[in-house]
Amino acid sequence: DTYDFGLVGLGVMGQNFILNVADNGFTAFGNDLDPEKVKALIKLGGDENKINASVAVTEFIKALKTPRKIMLLVPAGKVVDIVIESLLPHLDEGDIIIDGGNSFFTDTDRREAYLKEKGINFFGAGVSGGAKGARKGPSIMPGGSRDAYQHVKPIFEAVSAKYKGEPCVTYLGPKSAGNYVKMVHNGIEYGLMQLTSEIYDLLRKAGSLTNEELHKTYALWNEGRLQSFLVEITSKIFEQKDEFGNGNLVDQILDKAKQKGTGKWTSQNAMDLGIPVPTIDIAVSMREISALKSERIKADELYDRPTPESFDKKELIVKAENALYFAFIITYAQGMHQLADASKEYGYELKLTEIAKIWRAGCIIRAALLADIADAFKADENLQNLLLSTYFVEKVQETVDSVRELVAYGAKNGIPLPGLSNALTYFDAYTSTRLPLNLIQAQRDYFGSHTYERLDRKGIFHTEWGL
Ligand code: 6PG
Repeated sequence: DTYDFGLVGLGVMGQNFILNVADNGFTAFGNDLDPEKVKALIKLGGDENKINASVAVTEFIKALKTPRKIMLLVPAGKVVDIVIESLLPHLDEGDIIIDGGNSFFTDTDRREAYLKEKGINFFGAGVSGGAKGARKGPSIMPGGSRDAYQHVKPIFEAVSAKYKGEPCVTYLGPKSAGNYVKMVHNGIEYGLMQLTSEIYDLLRKAGSLTNEELHKTYALWNEGRLQSFLVEITSKIFEQKDEFGNGNLVDQILDKAKQKGTGKWTSQNAMDLGIPVPTIDIAVSMREISALKSERIKADELYDRPTPESFDKKELIVKAENALYFAFIITYAQGMHQLADASKEYGYELKLTEIAKIWRAGCIIRAALLADIADAFKADENLQNLLLSTYFVEKVQETVDSVRELVAYGAKNGIPLPGLSNALTYFDAYTSTRLPLNLIQAQRDYFGSHTYERLDRKGIFHTEWGL
């Protein structure tokens, strides 16, 4: 019982995370059903007093200091329950299990309640940053018991990414708060990815940018206000040569995007909450449309499409940068709005400033913009939507005209810009004092006596229409 930290699941993420723990001066013990993975970790770990591992659960449990801190980095779903059941008979009251996967938040609530009865503390902790992040410093989003978090805190703060010295991890809230925040992080991730890919389409079709020019453009953008992990890797993607000698790799990749579900869950739950996140919704739909490749090929043959008119390259690049910045703001605004509402609905008591802060480094959606978002929520804790913050009013105002122009261009020239046009319509609708939905209320009352309210007097009204 000498090791500080236990980790079940020695895949790439698990292996990297445990090496990161050891780099930071903690001793760690791993466990995996696969003896090869156990062997690999022991070999990589070097000194067995610092890192060790076993296939045997009993040996694993015995190796850990109490209260035991056991992180699971196993695939979300049934496997998590199976691992929990295998550990349970050997655990002592007060021990801590941390699920580091992308578990669905209601599964985390169920597991937390079940384990609480047995005196075990359960955490759902989203971990973002991929394999490299796990090794060098991820952003970690833990939710669970505040008291138990004190035992985990020193380790998580040491291994997490740092933004100007501040750790990208904090206690987020009770129960599934951590998994919920990670889910919305992924929803935002889907939105930003869709937007960067639309802008790429526009730049190559309207401005005829080559891969080399795309590389330079995204690299330059990454030096400015669009600085972000996704823009950075996008610039690097355009440079990558194909290993089979067929030009640039990006041009040989099949245009069908896969998904594991977290973006879809964000949209589904936003619908349940009644919070609009259309830019995230469309990013999910676009992955679905992309998957219909053979249908798309057939349909392409059935319809004519305009040949895009050329756009001045320099002007296009400036406008595209404005548009991407605008749409990034809108995507974060939608995600944060969802978090604010979910916090009330599920009693998470989330602090949006803290969330924006722990997203500033380590995670996939890290971006310079997040420092401004953190400041906006710090200036006004009750900010309902980023679009209502003075700082962002100015930023949005100065970029929206470029969005209007590019969306109009895309519509006229048959270039689909669903994320961008969605961000724009969200903005136009959200900032309209009056929308035409008075007509919908009239229709509802007409055919179903669903009643309506009035602008000029209080009360609930119903009309016998058409009489
Ligand atoms: C992260 C990512 C990660 C996610 C992948 C794949 O924060 O490190 O969000 O958790 O699983 O990005 O997601 P999709 O397969 O759904 O695209």
